[in-house]
Amino acid sequence: MKAIVLKKAGSVDNLILKEIDQPTIKENEVLVAVKGISVNPADAKIRSAEEGVKMMYAGQSTVILGWDISGTIVSIGNKVTKFKVGDNVFGMINFPGAGNAYAEFVASPEDQLAKMPESTSFEEAAATTLAALTALQVLETRIKKDDRVLIHAGSGGVGHFAIQIAKNMGAYVITTSSAKNKEFVMSLGADEHIDYRAQKFEEVLSDIDFVLDGMGGEVLFNSVKVLKEGGEVLSLPTPPPVLEEAQKLATIKNAKVSALMVHSNGNDMNKLKVMLENNTLKPHVSATFPFEDMADAHLQLESGRTVGKVVVTL
Ligand SMILES: NC(=O)c1ccc[n+]([C@@H]2O[C@H](COP(=O)([O-])OP(=O)(O)OC[C@H]3O[C@@H](n4cnc5c(N)ncnc54)[C@H](OP(=O)(O)O)[C@@H]3O)[C@@H](O)[C@H]2O)c1
Repeated sequence: MKAIVLKKAGSVDNLILKEIDQPTIKENEVLVAVKGISVNPADAKIRSAEEGVKMMYAGQSTVILGWDISGTIVSIGNKVTKFKVGDNVFGMINFPGAGNAYAEFVASPEDQLAKMPESTSFEEAAATTLAALTALQVLETRIKKDDRVLIHAGSGGVGHFAIQIAKNMGAYVITTSSAKNKEFVMSLGADEHIDYRAQKFEEVLSDIDFVLDGMGGEVLFNSVKVLKEGGEVLSLPTPPPVLEEAQKLATIKNAKVSALMVHSNGNDMNKLKVMLENNTLKPHVSATFPFEDMADAHLQLESGRTVGKVVVTL
């Protein structure tokens, strides 16, 4: 089968298209013929950092990046009960860990997948994986109806799902992006938009219950300032030492700074499936690339300007 192997940690030039053996499946796994792969900032960060590759692919000699897939099941292990050959499925495979998803065939534990809704395309299903799971796993236990929620980078992969999920939960949603993406984020249901290039959100907002921070740095520290007493900022990209610094600031107003690592989860994938089916969640795929052009998909993610999701098709 065709796969994109990472020769060594570094630039996109290290992503090499190769012919390798198909994976074998364990008794609780299915083999998926991949149709769509979505690419995340995490893919590019892990590609470029030796520690990242070592952490995710410990003990594996051939490194194949990628976690987000949609496709069709072509074989099943002896103990698989939820799926059959021919089912179209989507999911985030083995994250955090070795995804091995930049390939024509991927082995996946059955409990990390959901069946695709009938009216969802392979591109849309591939898009509704890591970024959507992150938004779901962050928001479902942290916000409630009528909360004032601030979502940074509302036009990005996580943000565009988070706006929709927070609105469906009954929150009042304020979001940041540049002016060119205002119309897009408002179309997702946001109540207020702040153009971060024209306005300092920390000067115009206050009394916020929950902030989803996809940026880190100054954005995290300024987000603490807009929290109400007892509020929370969850930062996706911030490392622990910086989180501790921000927590010191938050403690003064009895607020909380937290983090989360998204995890593969078939039950959560099924929740996303239901949202797709009842049209309360819609992925936005702004660009698709052929499999051979995976490097271009990585460069797009590294630009920091991606709107919604980028999908690679097979
Ligand atoms: N911890 C976890 O498990 C986890 C999971 C998912 C993601 N993450 C991390 O979370 C971050 C966001 O991920 P993502 O997939 O949403 O990224 P993304 O899709 O690449 O986000 C791109 C968006 O960010 C917006 N943006 C850039 N600078 C901004 C700023 N200063 N203020 C507001 N918006 C800004 C851009 O809008 P404009 O072009 O309008 O500026 C663009 O639409 C990444 O660092 C990722 O690695 C962590």
